[in-house]
Formats: sequence, C-alpha cells, structure tokens
Amino acid sequence: MRKFYVIGNLKMNMLSREEAAQYLSVLRREVQGKRYEHVTGAVCPPFLYLSQFDHLPEGIKKGAQNLFPEKSGAYTGEISPVMLKNDGVEYVIIGHSERRQHAGETNEMIREKIVAALKHHLIPIVCIGEMAAERRAEETDRILALQIQTIFAGLSKSQAEKIIVAYEPCWAIGTDVLPTTGELLQVRVMLRKMFTEMFDAQTAERIAVLYGGSVKSSFLAEVSWEAQMDGVLVGHESLFPYELVKMMGLCEEEALRQNEQSSSRIG
Ligand code: 13P
Repeated sequence: MRKFYVIGNLKMNMLSREEAAQYLSVLRREVQGKRYEHVTGAVCPPFLYLSQFDHLPEGIKKGAQNLFPEKSGAYTGEISPVMLKNDGVEYVIIGHSERRQHAGETNEMIREKIVAALKHHLIPIVCIGEMAAERRAEETDRILALQIQTIFAGLSKSQAEKIIVAYEPCWAIGTDVLPTTGELLQVRVMLRKMFTEMFDAQTAERIAVLYGGSVKSSFLAEVSWEAQMDGVLVGHESLFPYELVKMMGLCEEEALRQNEQSSSRIG
C-alpha cells in the first residue's frame, strides 16, 4: 500500500512560547475534520518547545531536530534519545546539512546517532546530499554513495528498514532552486540499487526516501511521487501550517489514487 511522509523541519524558528503556541493553534485548526490514512505528518520544533507539542492533531507526530548518542551524563548542552522518547518524540532528524556545516557533523557521527535513535525506538530521518561545488564537479553519485555506505555500515536489515532517508541537496535548501524530476529519479534509482546491494531487494523497498529542499505545495508532485519519492522534508514552508496540511492532503489523494490503481490491476 502506498504511503507518504510530510515532515516539517521548523529549524531555529519561533522566538517565544507564545509563537509556538500560536503555530500549534493554527495547525490544529487547519487539520480539523481531515483524516489521513496514507500519510504520516510530523513537525520537528526546536527542543525548547517540544513539550508544548504534546497532543498534536491525529496524523501528525512529534519530531526532534537532533540528538546526542548517549543515554545521560556529562554532555553539556546535549539532549539524549531517552529524553526525547520519554517526551513523546517519535521521529528525529539526524545529520541535517546545516548540522554538518555548523556543528561539524561527520558521516561517522551521524551513524552513531542513528544507532542511538534506533536503540531507543525513535525513527531516524537521516539527511544526505551533495554541496553545490560537488554537483558542479559531477560528484553527486560519489558523495551520496559515500554517505550511504558510511551511515548504513554494519546495520542489520531490520535496523535499516526503519530508517527514513531524506535526500536534500545543499544547493536546493532555502534557494528556490530545485533538481528536476529526472535528476531526483536518478538519485532514487541509485539509492534503491545501493540498498539492494547492501541488504536485499525487500529491505531496499522498505527504506523510505524523501526529498527536501525548497519544497512548496505547488510542485509537490514533481519532487515526490513523480520522482518515486516517499514524501518530503519541508523547511521554510512548514512554518505555515496551511501549507503543511495542504501537502498532507495532496499526498493522501495521490496515495488513494495509486492504491486504487494497483488494486484494480490486481482485481
Ligand atoms: P527549505 O524547505 O527551507 O529549503 O529547507 C529544506 C530543509 O532543509 C528541510 O530539512
């Protein structure tokens, strides 16, 4: 059965509890009366507001933007996976390019964080993607292969299939410049092939791959289902609950359409 994800990465936005509360009340209003059977939505606010994000509307899960790969201890300024789990967090973004850039996160560190997330039953959304210069040098495939091989090294099939991968080319984040559907499709095919080689075909099918970078509802089709992506990781537009909910609705419609098509083929 076809399923999509629409994940909102709220990044370092909303400057007060009041703003966070306002966001939530608009989100609740937008979702009211809507049902999602084939879409999982999630919002990932800054840590400080996580406890305000309890009791999200049905169909929208609570996510975080990072974790530290230890349970507790002398790690000043860090947040543990157990704290997140105990706070009702279900999804956690790991290895976002902004953390690679500003906090020096490496593929190895990202791998450790994924293992910690899985150990504590959080679903990792791991970000991969090439930088503009790497794309210009036609190194996209090599960079993505290196990221995937390092991040997934030594994981079992059952660990791997729980991970959500978000392909976020750095040059597409916050720029309104997007890869074409054809380029995304190429990445999707390459990732499926890599996962098949590392694990097996069934596991490769189960690893969801999302697209992220300047996503808007107006061209959701081109960057998600037309490119065989399993949904989107949304930055700026997720600050507008109306947009996020609109994307969830479009994904729900598309999933229904695809599921009907495949059941009529079987029937
Ligand atoms: P924008 O949608 O603002 O380009 O951000 C994408 C992103 O980084 C999501 O994680």
